[in-house]
Amino acid sequence: MNEADALRAAALLESAGLRPVAQAREASLLLLNTCVVRQQAEDKAYGRLRHVAELKQHNPDCVVALMGCLVGRIPQEHAALRERFPDVDLFLPPSDLEPLQQFLREQGVAILSDASAEGCLPPPLPDSQTGRTVVAHVPIVLGCSHACTYCVIPYRRGGETSRPSTDILAEVTALADRGVREVILLGQIVDRYGLDRPGEILLPDLLRRVAAIPGIARVRFLTSHPRWVTDDLIAAVATTPKLCPYFEVPVQAGSDAILQAMRRGYSVADYETLIDKIRAAIPDAGLSTDIIVGFPGETDAQFEATLALMARLDPDMIRIAKYSPRPLTWSARHLPDDIPETEKERRRVALEVALRQRLTRKHAPCTGQTVEILVERIEKNGRRYGRTPDYKPVFVDDSDAQPGDVIRARITWAGPFSFIAEPAVVPTAAWSLDIEY
Ligand code: 5AD
Repeated sequence: MNEADALRAAALLESAGLRPVAQAREASLLLLNTCVVRQQAEDKAYGRLRHVAELKQHNPDCVVALMGCLVGRIPQEHAALRERFPDVDLFLPPSDLEPLQQFLREQGVAILSDASAEGCLPPPLPDSQTGRTVVAHVPIVLGCSHACTYCVIPYRRGGETSRPSTDILAEVTALADRGVREVILLGQIVDRYGLDRPGEILLPDLLRRVAAIPGIARVRFLTSHPRWVTDDLIAAVATTPKLCPYFEVPVQAGSDAILQAMRRGYSVADYETLIDKIRAAIPDAGLSTDIIVGFPGETDAQFEATLALMARLDPDMIRIAKYSPRPLTWSARHLPDDIPETEKERRRVALEVALRQRLTRKHAPCTGQTVEILVERIEKNGRRYGRTPDYKPVFVDDSDAQPGDVIRARITWAGPFSFIAEPAVVPTAAWSLDIEY
């Protein structure tokens, strides 16, 4: 979501005639997007802000815009931020470019876009000179109204709001016209798309309609919440070839007691039943999940249960985070952050090592197999980079393929987190004519 927000901001600036520069100190406008989902991310933003203060001493005319979850959506908080960061000229809430548009208008800058979107998110604009955009992220649900006890997102991004499907379909059509081949529809709980909007279509129908837009070769959606993945959604993915067989469904923990303390609204058994159902309908589905280690009170045995669950589920990727108490959240207010940092780190590493070993084994038989890849870019060494339908990154040697092409490639090396491949030899018509009659 942050990547999507940042790219939209970049597109807006380009449409206003600004161009990217190589060095921050050459910039006349500096935009800093921020994440506060964990303390580490927040600290990184403070580090960058200190750097900005130095830059501003050398270049006092540089306009500094601070964007994202550090800013939040509560206007009263902005006064405090202004005092705390005197070098910042503009404050932009997450997914909301209106303050930047207003600033550009005040400067007399003509903007190509018509800011038609409700509340925030102007439509995307022409590409930068950096190359063709093959994959685009499209936010479809903004904010979140779930109250997972550890999570700060509802407090920073505000309540759940689905965008009108007409806006989304118009946006994807415009993206396809510019050469985008894959769209990734985004929401904190993407499966809840449309539920807050009476009369709106729901996610499965939206996906089918997006997949039908000419030029679009692949469609994905993330992130799912285990409680909201419906049979209809699974059926849509199973029966619509352009909907990629890939699910991002965070489980967060492998212990029912911890899931309850997190207020996730499902049990470990519920989660396993869901994944079984997905795999029964879509045998080649890729699965990615998120885990938080060191939630307050998590015992060794409860962590072992998470490790055991990962071994049973065999996901294709795990995003592992160490619990970090966040202001205003229920867990930060009511539960002591009682797992020592060294123990959190031990658990994180244990999960990561187990994941690497498991994926190394799981991928070994992939060598020699042929996969379909949407080429996203050409690497400096000439290799083509792209992903398989189930979202595995692949580097293809010696190919004439251009970004945007869908190619077939034979895997020559399979690592835990990426593959190397060569162009697959496709039988040609000339070859079939060689057959003797
Ligand atoms: N501490 C650690 N990890 C967190 N996440 C969300 N909030 C916290 C927190 N307070 C993780 C969850 C979520 C991902 C985006 O970030 O795993 O799925």
